[in-house]
Amino acid sequence: MKVIQVKHAQEGGKQAFAQLKEAMDKGITTLGLATGSTPVTLYQEMVTSALDFSHLTSVNLDEYVGLSGENPQSYRYFMNEHLFNKKPFKETFVPNGQAKDLDEECARYNDIIAQHPIDLQVLGIGRNGHIGFNEPGTSFDVQTHVVALTDSTIEANKRYFDSIEEVPTHALSMGIASILKSKQIILMAFGKEKAAAVAKMIEGPVTEQLPASVLQMHPNVIVIVDEQAASELTK
Ligand code: F6R
Repeated sequence: MKVIQVKHAQEGGKQAFAQLKEAMDKGITTLGLATGSTPVTLYQEMVTSALDFSHLTSVNLDEYVGLSGENPQSYRYFMNEHLFNKKPFKETFVPNGQAKDLDEECARYNDIIAQHPIDLQVLGIGRNGHIGFNEPGTSFDVQTHVVALTDSTIEANKRYFDSIEEVPTHALSMGIASILKSKQIILMAFGKEKAAAVAKMIEGPVTEQLPASVLQMHPNVIVIVDEQAASELTK
């Protein structure tokens, strides 16, 4: 893992954008994308750049079960608002949280990932060390799956909803096995509340109890952290 420390999220977005640009210069075709507050500064850099993304395909990590793409809290809506409406892509994929048969939707999404191998995957990290919505205890071998969100994740995500009761209890998430197949991974983490998870991810044992620790096994990972998120690193 290569760790890059930056002053703040703004600079983190610029760093991540520089890595993306370098990968695009090498001819990548497929981006794996994340939602949440972390990648917003990267998406701002992309939107304000002169770069054209209309030859790229994107495959998002996850979506809440039960929310339509028109729901402002859905991840499809988030992606349209922050990136796709402003910078068109060739094709964009987000799991369908409203699919009638969720197992079928997982299989469909696995096919999409198989047809569009991810060149560069953008990740955030949960306070409990989750990546995507792969919560602690999730097997490293799973592909796209239905996830029951932990109380810690529901608590963290309630800031986007009017009340905690409105936060969906389940999500569809790309699995860790699929994330690990990405050729390159950029994980960003900003803020004090990520410090413990970041330290365990980089310096702790590889364990399913801290899903992001699996990234130690991947040959091409860049971690971009601000000073606060790096504050519990010892090395
Ligand atoms: C979002 C995702 C999640 C977030 C994580 C951090 O698509 O997969 O793993 O990256 O929950 O969320 P923020 O960035 O809001 O702190």
